[in-house]
Amino acid sequence: MKFPLQDKVVLITGASGGIGAACARALHAAGATVVLTDVSQQAVDALAASMGTDRVMAMALDVTDRAGADAVVAAAVRRFGGLDMVFANAGIACDPPATIARINEQTFEHIIEVDLLGVWRTVRACLPQIMARKGHVLVTASFYAYINGVLNAPYAMSKAGVEMFARALRAELAGTGATAGVLYPGWVSTPIAKVAFGGHPIATRLVGMVFPWPLNKAISPEAVAQRVVDGVQRRAARITVPSRWVPLSYLRGFINAASDRKLDGDTRIHALIRQVEQEVAPPR
Ligand SMILES: NC(=O)c1ccc[n+]([C@@H]2O[C@H](COP(=O)([O-])OP(=O)(O)OC[C@H]3O[C@@H](n4cnc5c(N)ncnc54)[C@H](O)[C@@H]3O)[C@@H](O)[C@H]2O)c1
Repeated sequence: MKFPLQDKVVLITGASGGIGAACARALHAAGATVVLTDVSQQAVDALAASMGTDRVMAMALDVTDRAGADAVVAAAVRRFGGLDMVFANAGIACDPPATIARINEQTFEHIIEVDLLGVWRTVRACLPQIMARKGHVLVTASFYAYINGVLNAPYAMSKAGVEMFARALRAELAGTGATAGVLYPGWVSTPIAKVAFGGHPIATRLVGMVFPWPLNKAISPEAVAQRVVDGVQRRAARITVPSRWVPLSYLRGFINAASDRKLDGDTRIHALIRQVEQEVAPPR
């Protein structure tokens, strides 16, 4: 069953970020009505203004706020008559990078609250509408769902969780007409990835050492958006972008063992991890 985007109402979280904004524009250009949400009202207003007033609505939403998600869904239904798709995309990462031994406890839990529970709360709020309209749920995971989340553990834990959440949801929705899928971006040139591309010198060196070319190359958010539009219209279970990550995603059992072995044995990587650890005081 296809999911043509013309006249579909799509709620997007993290809409003013790199991937969110590019996807919002591409979904809108494909005929969808977009409900743009992010933590800053000003940022979603600016994005909405750049897209014209037609088929666009902008509302602040912090994805950790369950009641806030209900309010946005209610406002979208009032304005557009219903909701066909949610793109649960908002996310944050460890910035600066930190080890599990030294990361601030509140920071660790906040990342999980946004990246994992934020997806659950957003999707839960949208699901009655989406099931009623045989719509689609898309969640943003990452290659971090299956690659070691070294120095970014709560992020990788969340992305693995988000993947399993959407796969469970897809199976539970099977036969109802509604569907769910997972977006797995590789590196993308957006603010969240800056830490690994010059923003933090050790994280930047680690990316160069852990990810062989061309996996260490960042692509544009627009390239992600193009694949999102295509994948959503097919109700794809998986959207892996760029395509160079596809073989790895199919071979992940082998890749897991190989990357564990590399990280176990590479003393240059161990030294860099210890260096990052020294940047943060030990917990008292
Ligand atoms: N850029 C990459 O290399 C990459 C790779 C894989 C996955 N991802 C994922 O893609 C998604 C989008 O990230 P991006 O690359 O566009 O980064 P980004 O930093 O440009 O965008 C993230 C957006 O999420 C919003 N956000 C943060 N906390 C929020 C909260 N509590 N409530 C609502 N919104 C919140 C931010 O304001 C921002 O607009 C994230 O889930 C990220 O983990 C990114």
